[in-house]
Amino acid sequence: MSSVLEIVNISKDFGRISAVKNLSLQVSKGAVFGILGPNGSGKTTTLAMILGASNPTSGSFNWFGENGNHQVRKRIGAILEFPVFYPSFSAEKNLRITARIKEVSAERIDVVLGMVGLLERKHDAFKTYSLGMKQRLAIASAMLCDPEVLILDEPTNGLDPQGIAEIRTIIRDIAEQGKTIILASHLLDEVQKVCTDFCILKSGNLIYQGKVSDSEQSTTTEIEVGAADKDLEIHLRKIPFVQTVTRVGDYCRVVVLSGHDAAALNAYLNTMGIHVSHLITRKESLEEKFLSILNVQA
Ligand SMILES: Nc1ncnc2c1ncn2[C@@H]1O[C@H](COP(=O)(O)OP(=O)(O)O)[C@@H](O)[C@H]1O
Ligand SMILES: [Mg+2]
Repeated sequence: MSSVLEIVNISKDFGRISAVKNLSLQVSKGAVFGILGPNGSGKTTTLAMILGASNPTSGSFNWFGENGNHQVRKRIGAILEFPVFYPSFSAEKNLRITARIKEVSAERIDVVLGMVGLLERKHDAFKTYSLGMKQRLAIASAMLCDPEVLILDEPTNGLDPQGIAEIRTIIRDIAEQGKTIILASHLLDEVQKVCTDFCILKSGNLIYQGKVSDSEQSTTTEIEVGAADKDLEIHLRKIPFVQTVTRVGDYCRVVVLSGHDAAALNAYLNTMGIHVSHLITRKESLEEKFLSILNVQA
């Protein structure tokens, strides 16, 4: 499948804070791609960089296989911060102004208002809109230029359950038109409900990327190992199917690549001359993993 966005080793520092660390991602055409992570994990910073609103400290990205330029930016619709509309002007008039600023045709105003269910209310003043309607108008505004890609940052923040459901339906409808959507969210549930693909960020680090459909069964296997050998940790790090090793008291906690288990780990350590005295397996679903990330930061 062709790639719409490719990010290669992008990082962003704000003084001493590393907001995004060596992030590499690929977004395929037609995907609804979720960037999932708790507050402060680097989602907005990532979106700002790929929109050209903030310069990466290092690394690069490209849209549609081309280098960033004005033409590329016109193929992308985005809502980063809450957009500014004139309170006493109607939705239609606000979109006319947006169309002029963006130098796009006003012909699509009714189309985009229909897309977000605001056609009937298009003559009402913006200030009479509910928060959900305001957010829907923001999506309509981003869709005015008929972009190939739509970027949304926390699109359901602050909305009531009905408002949330409406926004999610609109996102799915837009995806059905064949658009690519990139959505940042701190809500696991939202990503599972609307996205096809997702990644998880934690403190600016990418810790998972995959298909949402795979993630429902996906688990990580963590094995706690103990041995008298003082170099246990060093040996564990040499094993090819070992992903991470963390020292916890007398034991080491090891995450192994899928398809490998405690028996394989034990057998490998034996070939290294290490005799295991303690071996416990813990399986964690992706959901548990994400929830534990959220708890750590809460
Ligand atoms: N303009 C800025 N100046 C300094 N620090 C910033 C700035 N923008 C973001 N940060 C910091 O970068 C980190 C990531 O922030 P952000 O990308 O907004 O996270 P998220 O969108 O996932 O909540 C946070 O620690 C935040 O405080
Ligand atoms: Mg954010």
